[in-house]
Amino acid sequence: ASAAPGPDWLSNPIVYAHRGASAYAPENTLEAIDLAMEMGFDWVENDVQRTKDGELVVIHDDTLARTTDVEQVFPDRKPWRVKDFTAAEIARLDAGSWFGPEFAGARVPTLRQYMNRVQRNQQRLLLEIKKPELYPGIEQQTLDVLGATGWLNEDRVVRRLVVQSFSAASVRTVHELRPDLFTAFLGTPAVADLPRYAEFTDRINPWYTTIDADWVAAVHKLLGAHGRALEVDTWIVDDAATALKVQDMGVDGIITDKPDVVREAVGGY
Ligand code: G3P
Ligand code: CA
Repeated sequence: ASAAPGPDWLSNPIVYAHRGASAYAPENTLEAIDLAMEMGFDWVENDVQRTKDGELVVIHDDTLARTTDVEQVFPDRKPWRVKDFTAAEIARLDAGSWFGPEFAGARVPTLRQYMNRVQRNQQRLLLEIKKPELYPGIEQQTLDVLGATGWLNEDRVVRRLVVQSFSAASVRTVHELRPDLFTAFLGTPAVADLPRYAEFTDRINPWYTTIDADWVAAVHKLLGAHGRALEVDTWIVDDAATALKVQDMGVDGIITDKPDVVREAVGGY
């Protein structure tokens, strides 16, 4: 990486607990990030979407069906889209029982609740704005919640927070609204297109099956939006052999449901 000032998160590689420690606790719940902390992982990843009444909530799918008991609680509301339910309705749902009875009563957290817990746990966050095309204005709203929960102070912006999306437009918007914030683009741009991305992002985060060592080296050659070498976090790597393989390719971070397995294989933190 370049010598430009910036975060102290270089670690070869960073191990991110994907949706929390999601192989061992229900994804995107406070329980999943608490467990990641107990296992010794400070970097967690999440997914942010918006309710009917404008509250940001932490959930991966754009429907509530897979990870809550919504079909029992609201049987007539198929297809159970997040954006068709109020925050109060979502707060009634059980987001833990599907995963295991010991997690009964876990909730879909609001982004506010989630940010407060990440802070209490002294963790770091890779925050994904999920499906922004469904939620016009979600970038500014996300920044508003980050500001209201103290997450736009210098220490947290520089060392403990990255905002990512599969939508380049969304990542660019976040960068333009808050240029000091570090961002990542989820995808695998062609090498020839990388300079365009480098204008508004700091990290390029591809699915591991789409990359090789040459591509990673090409990414590393460019300086990102903050004047540091672009870095690469890859997903979802849950076994030791694949972790070793992507480490050999030179990635800077590994996003995994099984952070313990990855750290055992490649080190990192
Ligand atoms: O952080 C990368 C990864 O989360 C992207 O895929 O579907 O799990 O959000 P997905
Ligand atoms: Ca995600």
